[in-house]
Amino acid sequence: MFKITDTVSWVGKIDWELNKFHGDEYSTHKGSSYNSYLIRDEKTVLIDTVWQPFSQEFVTNLKKEIDLKEIDYIIMNHSEIDHSGALCELMEEIPNTPIYCTKKGVSIIKGIHHKQFNFVEVKTGDTLDIGKNKLIFVEATMLHWPDSMMTYMSGENILFSNDAFGQHYASELMYNDKVDREELYNEAIKYYANILTPFSKFVVKKIEEVVSLNIPINMICPSHGIIWKEDPLQIVTQYMEWAKGYQENQITIIYDTMWNGTRRMAEVIAEGIKSVDKDVVIKIYNSAKKDKNDIITEVFKSKMILVGSSTINNGILSSTAAILEMIKGLKFINKKAAAFGAYGWSGEGNKIITEQLKEAKFEVINDGIKALWNPDEDALAQCRKFGEELVK
Ligand code: FEO
Repeated sequence: MFKITDTVSWVGKIDWELNKFHGDEYSTHKGSSYNSYLIRDEKTVLIDTVWQPFSQEFVTNLKKEIDLKEIDYIIMNHSEIDHSGALCELMEEIPNTPIYCTKKGVSIIKGIHHKQFNFVEVKTGDTLDIGKNKLIFVEATMLHWPDSMMTYMSGENILFSNDAFGQHYASELMYNDKVDREELYNEAIKYYANILTPFSKFVVKKIEEVVSLNIPINMICPSHGIIWKEDPLQIVTQYMEWAKGYQENQITIIYDTMWNGTRRMAEVIAEGIKSVDKDVVIKIYNSAKKDKNDIITEVFKSKMILVGSSTINNGILSSTAAILEMIKGLKFINKKAAAFGAYGWSGEGNKIITEQLKEAKFEVINDGIKALWNPDEDALAQCRKFGEELVK
């Protein structure tokens, strides 16, 4: 526990050990935290809990902080198990305490935990007087689940934003002016790229809605990672930029290869690009060897991606198929793409990749390039030219 203000304390769990999140879908190289907040005004309020493996620890620690019976209200901004995981353990102690959440939140908590609690459904604009401060609920549907909401505490002007503006980043320092800024940025953009990209339209709409309310925000307290205390609106501004077809001057080449033919193609295409455009950042990743979420973050930053695979069994290599599936689901916008790959006889790789890139709504700029067997000097010269023409 630590005090954020005289009224608000952090009572969550810092999970230094976590290296995978959402099952095995999201790599967390820097751990994470599950942020729960305790507000002690005339009324006592708990916002969110922690992931289920820490439920006992959470309740035990909370008891050291407060007599649980003093909790007047529980607010569940979001029902996903990393935030509702300790709810059942907590409710065994205080079964009648009202739980404030959205209508969808009620159905999802029931669907996950199979319990009937004392739910109070809230919607945007509903308020809860807790003494000197007032809580105002703001639904944040599809940011990133149907039940998601934020809670704004007027008086101290704190936005409890839940997943939005969070990062999977463990740090005992907990504030944005204390931690390494580059690490924080990297984890925040990875989180956006891998989790929030499909919901960018909702991000823009919600931020515009909140900005139009003209409410002062002194601090943003998300449900993962560090708290935005110094210039808290910087992350809001950053989200607006990320949500509007973000790209940098970067081309990312993603490939998988059986006998290095497709790898050679990737490298020589990069040489061709570089010979024409000295400023563009080129990054090359083998999708079978590099972290998939880090690759996705680089895709998010790119203006163009090239995806390559050897042809195998009339198809493409499994790591290429997997990364394309992730790319498709994340619904990137404002990006160009092309395919490449080596083959021995049937050579469908390019066609399959091209179709999938189109399905993922990338602007596919040509039919790609393929090389028979191990690319010889002529084939490599073609790859170089392919790279040159891409940037021209
Ligand atoms: Fe951090 Fe959507 O749960």
